[in-house]
Amino acid sequence: MKQSLPNLAVLGATGVVGREILKILEENKVEYNSIKFLASSRSAGSKIDFKGKSYTVVEAKPEEFDGVNICLASAGGETSKHFAPISAEKGCVFIDNSSAFRMDENVPLVIAGVNDEDLKTHKGIISNPNCSTSQLMLPLKALNDKYKIKRLIVSTYQAVSGAGLKAINELTDNIKTNLVGMPYEPKAFKYEIAFNVIPQIDVFCENGYTKEEMKVTNETRKILHLGQDVKISCSAVRVPVYIGHSEAVSVEFVEKVDAKEARELLKNTWGIEVRDDISTYTYPTPKDAAGKNPVYVGRIRNSIAFDSGLDFFCVADNLRIGAALNTVRLAQKVIEMGLY
Ligand SMILES: NC(=O)c1ccc[n+]([C@@H]2O[C@H](COP(=O)([O-])OP(=O)(O)OC[C@H]3O[C@@H](n4cnc5c(N)ncnc54)[C@H](OP(=O)(O)O)[C@@H]3O)[C@@H](O)[C@H]2O)c1
Repeated sequence: MKQSLPNLAVLGATGVVGREILKILEENKVEYNSIKFLASSRSAGSKIDFKGKSYTVVEAKPEEFDGVNICLASAGGETSKHFAPISAEKGCVFIDNSSAFRMDENVPLVIAGVNDEDLKTHKGIISNPNCSTSQLMLPLKALNDKYKIKRLIVSTYQAVSGAGLKAINELTDNIKTNLVGMPYEPKAFKYEIAFNVIPQIDVFCENGYTKEEMKVTNETRKILHLGQDVKISCSAVRVPVYIGHSEAVSVEFVEKVDAKEARELLKNTWGIEVRDDISTYTYPTPKDAAGKNPVYVGRIRNSIAFDSGLDFFCVADNLRIGAALNTVRLAQKVIEMGLY
């Protein structure tokens, strides 16, 4: 266990996820010795106000990792591929939000509170799962521990903030032009996102699924340590919502499941808030989840498609549990477990 408090760096501090990381670091009691904010040359020199102090954003260069113990990174896959090995070489634990290392067998892929033990295997890089996988893990871990998942089918309704700042601005501009009857040429998406839904997130793979859909499949298997016998499929759809991914989930179990019992189980699971009472139209929506930390679960019901199965609706702030919150929680775990 390290005795001294860590020196932290936030790489990609000026981005959508980076800014959320700063907010959460301000809310949470993460103790550190020093902190620095890194981005590209575009933002170098700009100012960030953090905990009542003004910091200058510094261009990320190898020497900036000297003496840093933990780096919270959200600067895209190419940037991570470049800096993560350099950082690891210098003894810094690089907690990465990009997809660059998620399926690397030498890199643990972790949701805090789900598979913390996997952190102990890190060799300098820890991956944060994709946002649509992340919010699913807390409910699925609890359900899998008790009933053993046999088959999983997920349909996502993903917010534009999952595609970064450009996509957020595009939704606003697209709505404005639509409302005054002007044509709009989409840039961040293949089709107009205003008043529309787009059944493609990321590029298509050879099997007809998108890369996003395969991320949910493969990352879920890795985090929950599920065998190849467990069948998983996902359809990922972009919707005109700013913040908050929603997911309709159908699960078949090996053991007999009952919706009432599963509801109680989820109510008692850390990190989850159950909002589920159809008599009062109580169920989660992305508007309620934005800016909040829990994974919200509702519409829990016995499946009529499987002999032993559940259907439920799961909503969370994609920038929080899906990225920044888990990154900060992982940094906290690394500190608590003395893994830096
Ligand atoms: N948005 C989400 O919901 C979400 C969820 C999970 C994971 N992620 C992942 O998190 C990462 C960031 O996403 P985002 O939505 O925050 O993107 P973003 O808003 O476009 O921000 C990108 C950040 O990376 C920095 N950056 C870019 N190139 C760099 C370089 N060569 N060297 C150093 N810094 C560089 C940018 O700095 P400048 O200001 O200088 O350009 C900016 O701070 C991506 O890998 C994304 O896949 C995003």
